[in-house]
Amino acid sequence: MGEKANVGVIGLGRLGSLYATYLQTRIQHANLVAVSDVREAAAEAFAKENHVPKWFKNYKDLLAEKAVDSVLVVTPTSTHKEVVIEAARQRKAIFCEKPLSLSLDEAVAMSSAIEETGVFFQMGFMRHFDKGYAAAKRKIDEGLIGEPIVFKSSSRDPFRPSLEYLDPRQSGGLITDCGIHDIDLARWYFGEVRSVHSIGGILAYPEISEIGDVDNAIVTLQFESGALGVIDMSRSGIYGYDIRTEILGTKGTLQIGYLRETPLMVLTKDGVTHDAVPYFMERFEQAYIAQLENFAENVTLGRPPSITCADGLAALRISLAATLSLKEARPVAVVAGEG
Ligand SMILES: NC(=O)c1ccc[n+]([C@@H]2O[C@H](COP(=O)([O-])OP(=O)(O)OC[C@H]3O[C@@H](n4cnc5c(N)ncnc54)[C@H](O)[C@@H]3O)[C@@H](O)[C@H]2O)c1
Repeated sequence: MGEKANVGVIGLGRLGSLYATYLQTRIQHANLVAVSDVREAAAEAFAKENHVPKWFKNYKDLLAEKAVDSVLVVTPTSTHKEVVIEAARQRKAIFCEKPLSLSLDEAVAMSSAIEETGVFFQMGFMRHFDKGYAAAKRKIDEGLIGEPIVFKSSSRDPFRPSLEYLDPRQSGGLITDCGIHDIDLARWYFGEVRSVHSIGGILAYPEISEIGDVDNAIVTLQFESGALGVIDMSRSGIYGYDIRTEILGTKGTLQIGYLRETPLMVLTKDGVTHDAVPYFMERFEQAYIAQLENFAENVTLGRPPSITCADGLAALRISLAATLSLKEARPVAVVAGEG
């Protein structure tokens, strides 16, 4: 591998187009050499506007390119299995967005393909690269707050994404699509989860019933250590993109996250106001860039992945157990392999 990874981006939607732009403008250890999207016109327009040498409608044509040594898989979750397995066969270094896939069977097939081919694979969970979440991890590991005993996390979207995106057959549903970030953090900070219990409902957008999902849910967790957790996730946080986590320890508490985007408070006789974080693009820009730089550095320097396929699989197992719990209205054991 040279000094820079030669990267192809597969999927140029909301996140993939951001990633491709970052690769082109912000990532030191990578060149953006090709893009692919089934929306061929979008791929062509992006490539021409951003001086990307090659674009493809079919991702397999991108994978056949010798000039591409690494790929970012940023397609809908329902396609991750197919694209990742094909990329492994073509011996590309792979970065795959969360969630790993839609089912454990798919995830195991992906993991086997990665193991058999020996390709580099890094899972996308950008919160590990967010300054606040990363600092919290260091404080926990240093023992600053003693033993972590309660995990509390909120993920609220400011509005409902498209029904096409939300459809559980594409995204995995609210808990797997959105809550998986919090579930991954829970594992990172607290270790493995023993059992989950979920409740949820269609409380804000009646049309969600058309796709068989919920728009708000709460998952409680019990960790192997005995520690407790609660995650609330919402598609109707109408005031902004609200991502916050609290970790209660025996010697102190950490609060991670913020709601005010601009460092400005407006104080008048009518009250005190400020704006709110608009959406994921603004909230996690620094983390997305750090994550891509880390991927490119790991690939070029021959370092191991910072987040593995096994991490992706473990988080998926918990999210699927929590989704089963929601459907069957009962607690579900995670380690027993249910879900
Ligand atoms: N980490 C995060 O904060 C975050 C945020 C948003 C999305 N995501 C993840 O990123 C992935 C994409 O999400 P999105 O919001 O960008 O979705 P999106 O629907 O906006 O974009 C997906 C793109 O992939 C294209 N596509 C579909 N099938 C394809 C194929 N076979 N080959 C090439 N292109 C194909 C679509 O045309 C579309 O442009 C999902 O897995 C999602 O979970 C992560």
